[in-house]
Amino acid sequence: MQFTVNGASVEASADIRTSLLDLLREHLHLTGTKKGCNQGACGACTVLVDGVRINSCLALAVQYEGREITTIEGVGTPEAPHPLQAAFIEHDGFQCGYCTPGQICSALGAAAEWQRGVPSAVTADLREDRIRIDHDELRERMSGNLCRCGAYNGIVDAIRETLIVESAA
Ligand code: FES
Ligand code: FES
Repeated sequence: MQFTVNGASVEASADIRTSLLDLLREHLHLTGTKKGCNQGACGACTVLVDGVRINSCLALAVQYEGREITTIEGVGTPEAPHPLQAAFIEHDGFQCGYCTPGQICSALGAAAEWQRGVPSAVTADLREDRIRIDHDELRERMSGNLCRCGAYNGIVDAIRETLIVESAA
Protein backbone atom coordinates (compact mmCIF):
# COMPACT_ATOMS: atom_id res chain seq x y z
CA MET A 1 0.00 0.00 0.00
CA GLN A 2 1.15 3.54 -0.73
CA PHE A 3 0.27 6.60 1.34
CA THR A 4 1.48 10.14 1.72
CA VAL A 5 2.21 10.59 5.41
CA ASN A 6 3.21 14.02 6.67
CA GLY A 7 4.20 15.03 3.16
CA ALA A 8 6.34 11.99 2.37
CA SER A 9 5.40 9.07 0.15
CA VAL A 10 5.53 5.81 2.10
CA GLU A 11 5.02 2.17 1.16
CA ALA A 12 3.78 -0.31 3.71
CA SER A 13 2.89 -3.94 3.59
CA ALA A 14 0.32 -5.12 6.14
CA ASP A 15 -2.53 -7.56 6.60
CA ILE A 16 -5.67 -6.09 5.03
CA ARG A 17 -7.34 -6.16 8.47
CA THR A 18 -4.78 -3.71 9.87
CA SER A 19 -6.28 -0.50 11.20
CA LEU A 20 -4.85 2.80 10.09
CA LEU A 21 -3.85 3.40 13.72
CA ASP A 22 -1.84 0.17 13.87
CA LEU A 23 -0.29 0.89 10.49
CA LEU A 24 0.90 4.27 11.72
CA ARG A 25 2.15 3.06 15.08
CA GLU A 26 3.37 -0.47 14.45
CA HIS A 27 4.46 -0.38 10.82
CA LEU A 28 5.52 3.23 10.28
CA HIS A 29 6.64 3.79 13.90
CA LEU A 30 4.76 7.06 14.18
CA THR A 31 3.81 6.62 17.82
CA GLY A 32 2.60 10.18 18.38
CA THR A 33 -0.89 8.99 17.46
CA LYS A 34 -2.21 7.25 20.55
CA LYS A 35 -4.32 4.14 21.08
CA GLY A 36 -6.75 4.84 23.89
CA CYS A 37 -9.97 2.85 23.67
CA ASN A 38 -9.38 1.33 20.20
CA GLN A 39 -13.14 1.48 19.62
CA GLY A 40 -13.98 5.02 18.55
CA ALA A 41 -14.89 6.44 21.95
CA CYS A 42 -11.94 8.60 23.05
CA GLY A 43 -10.45 10.43 20.05
CA ALA A 44 -6.83 9.78 21.08
CA CYS A 45 -6.16 8.24 17.66
CA THR A 46 -7.44 11.22 15.63
CA VAL A 47 -5.49 11.98 12.46
CA LEU A 48 -6.26 14.04 9.37
CA VAL A 49 -6.91 12.40 6.02
CA ASP A 50 -6.91 14.93 3.19
CA GLY A 51 -7.50 17.50 5.93
CA VAL A 52 -10.53 15.72 7.42
CA ARG A 53 -10.33 14.33 10.95
CA ILE A 54 -11.00 10.65 11.50
CA ASN A 55 -10.58 8.12 14.28
CA SER A 56 -7.76 5.99 12.90
CA CYS A 57 -8.65 3.05 15.18
CA LEU A 58 -11.93 2.62 13.31
CA ALA A 59 -10.35 2.86 9.85
CA LEU A 60 -8.83 0.06 7.86
CA ALA A 61 -5.51 1.22 6.44
CA VAL A 62 -6.33 -0.25 3.06
CA GLN A 63 -9.31 2.11 2.75
CA TYR A 64 -6.95 5.07 2.77
CA GLU A 65 -4.45 3.87 0.21
CA GLY A 66 -3.16 6.76 -1.89
CA ARG A 67 -4.52 9.39 0.50
CA GLU A 68 -2.72 12.17 2.32
CA ILE A 69 -2.45 11.49 6.05
CA THR A 70 -1.30 13.99 8.65
CA THR A 71 -0.33 12.83 12.13
CA ILE A 72 0.88 14.90 15.04
CA GLU A 73 4.45 14.38 13.80
CA GLY A 74 3.49 16.41 10.73
CA VAL A 75 1.89 19.28 12.64
CA GLY A 76 4.92 20.77 14.36
CA THR A 77 8.22 20.01 16.02
CA PRO A 78 9.59 20.79 19.48
CA GLU A 79 11.75 23.46 17.85
CA ALA A 80 8.98 24.86 15.68
CA PRO A 81 5.61 24.05 17.25
CA HIS A 82 2.34 24.83 15.52
CA PRO A 83 0.67 27.89 17.13
CA LEU A 84 -1.95 25.55 18.61
CA GLN A 85 0.75 23.42 20.21
CA ALA A 86 2.35 26.55 21.66
CA ALA A 87 -1.05 27.60 22.99
CA PHE A 88 -1.56 24.19 24.65
CA ILE A 89 1.68 24.79 26.54
CA GLU A 90 0.77 28.39 27.34
CA HIS A 91 -2.71 27.47 28.65
CA ASP A 92 -1.78 24.24 30.43
CA GLY A 93 -3.91 22.24 28.01
CA PHE A 94 -2.50 18.88 29.04
CA GLN A 95 -1.44 16.93 32.06
CA CYS A 96 -0.40 13.40 31.07
CA GLY A 97 -0.50 14.42 27.40
CA TYR A 98 -1.89 11.11 26.18
CA CYS A 99 -4.92 12.68 24.55
CA THR A 100 -3.06 15.75 23.30
CA PRO A 101 -2.03 14.59 19.80
CA GLY A 102 -5.63 13.63 19.11
CA GLN A 103 -6.95 16.87 20.60
CA ILE A 104 -4.65 18.90 18.37
CA CYS A 105 -5.40 16.98 15.16
CA SER A 106 -9.11 17.11 15.97
CA ALA A 107 -9.04 20.86 16.61
CA LEU A 108 -7.29 21.42 13.26
CA GLY A 109 -9.96 19.34 11.57
CA ALA A 110 -12.69 21.23 13.43
CA ALA A 111 -11.25 24.58 12.32
CA ALA A 112 -11.35 23.42 8.71
CA GLU A 113 -14.99 22.37 9.22
CA TRP A 114 -15.89 25.83 10.56
CA GLN A 115 -14.24 27.40 7.55
CA ARG A 116 -16.27 25.17 5.24
CA GLY A 117 -19.44 26.18 7.10
CA VAL A 118 -20.17 22.70 8.44
CA PRO A 119 -22.76 23.00 11.24
CA SER A 120 -22.67 21.02 14.47
CA ALA A 121 -25.48 19.51 16.54
CA VAL A 122 -25.77 22.75 18.52
CA THR A 123 -25.58 25.30 15.69
CA ALA A 124 -28.50 27.60 16.38
CA ASP A 125 -28.90 29.35 13.03
CA LEU A 126 -28.09 27.41 9.86
CA ARG A 127 -28.69 30.50 7.69
CA GLU A 128 -25.68 32.41 8.98
CA ASP A 129 -22.85 32.83 6.47
CA ARG A 130 -20.30 32.16 9.17
CA ILE A 131 -21.18 30.02 12.14
CA ARG A 132 -20.47 31.81 15.39
CA ILE A 133 -18.14 29.74 17.54
CA ASP A 134 -19.27 30.24 21.09
CA HIS A 135 -18.39 28.10 24.08
CA ASP A 136 -21.08 25.50 23.36
CA GLU A 137 -20.07 25.18 19.69
CA LEU A 138 -16.48 24.64 20.64
CA ARG A 139 -17.29 22.08 23.30
CA GLU A 140 -19.65 20.20 20.99
CA ARG A 141 -17.15 20.11 18.13
CA MET A 142 -14.44 18.76 20.42
CA SER A 143 -16.73 16.37 22.30
CA GLY A 144 -15.26 13.31 20.55
CA ASN A 145 -11.93 13.86 22.28
CA LEU A 146 -11.81 12.82 25.90
CA CYS A 147 -9.16 13.87 28.42
CA ARG A 148 -9.11 11.69 31.48
CA CYS A 149 -7.13 14.32 33.42
CA GLY A 150 -9.72 17.03 32.91
CA ALA A 151 -7.51 19.58 31.14
CA TYR A 152 -10.55 20.77 29.21
CA ASN A 153 -10.48 24.41 30.27
CA GLY A 154 -6.92 24.83 29.02
CA ILE A 155 -7.72 22.93 25.82
CA VAL A 156 -10.69 25.18 25.09
CA ASP A 157 -8.66 28.32 25.82
CA ALA A 158 -5.84 27.17 23.53
CA ILE A 159 -8.20 26.38 20.66
CA ARG A 160 -10.17 29.57 21.13
CA GLU A 161 -7.01 31.69 21.12
CA THR A 162 -5.53 30.20 17.96
CA LEU A 163 -7.96 28.46 15.65
CA ILE A 164 -11.03 30.59 16.17
CA VAL A 165 -9.08 33.76 15.53
CA GLU A 166 -7.61 32.14 12.41
CA SER A 167 -10.93 30.78 11.19
CA ALA A 168 -12.68 34.11 11.74
CA ALA A 169 -10.07 35.98 9.68
FE1 FES B 1 -9.56 5.56 18.57
FE2 FES B 1 -10.11 5.81 21.15
S1 FES B 1 -8.34 4.93 20.22
S2 FES B 1 -11.23 6.60 19.46
FE1 FES C 1 -4.08 13.32 30.04
FE2 FES C 1 -5.64 14.39 28.25
S1 FES C 1 -3.88 15.27 29.17
S2 FES C 1 -5.72 12.39 28.98
